Amino acid sequence: MSPDTLAREMTTLLEYAKQSADDAASLESLQEKIVAAIAERLPSYNWTGFYMLDPDDATMLVLGPFIGAPTPHVRIPISQGICGAAVASGQTIVVDDVNADPRYLSCSISTKSEIVVPVYASGRVVGEIDIDSHNPAAFGDADRVFLEEVARIVGGYIERHFEQV
Ligand code: SME
Repeated sequence: MSPDTLAREMTTLLEYAKQSADDAASLESLQEKIVAAIAERLPSYNWTGFYMLDPDDATMLVLGPFIGAPTPHVRIPISQGICGAAVASGQTIVVDDVNADPRYLSCSISTKSEIVVPVYASGRVVGEIDIDSHNPAAFGDADRVFLEEVARIVGGYIERHFEQV
């Protein structure tokens, strides 16, 4: 996909995510719509999903809506994995070669690179978006900017709909 086409697809996806955040009946349905649309439009995003912090245990991530191969990692302590590292640091993590990263928890042997973007609501990390690609070094600045905007849209939805955050 050319950079121009990628930029167009991302713009379309952000518009769709914003619109969905205005009328989604639940956080889960918003997340389902977003992962389905991303999987359909961005071919190098081979696994797209959300992990959210367990409301009863802030040290644990719980798998939410996703599109891609089933993963054995349905609960990830924030001390483990690239997923845990992103939440613990509060920063986006990009891994060009997952097999060279000792933190990596394998979901599929086809995965070569990964990006994990924290979702913030009311200034606190509440979860994250996790993307795997079968291509090495699949995620650049455009992907980071795009996914951080998706995370802001989801965080905004949480701020508007949940009193506890
Ligand atoms: N690779 C992640 C685990 C989640 S699966 O990729 C879906 C990690 O290292 O935390």
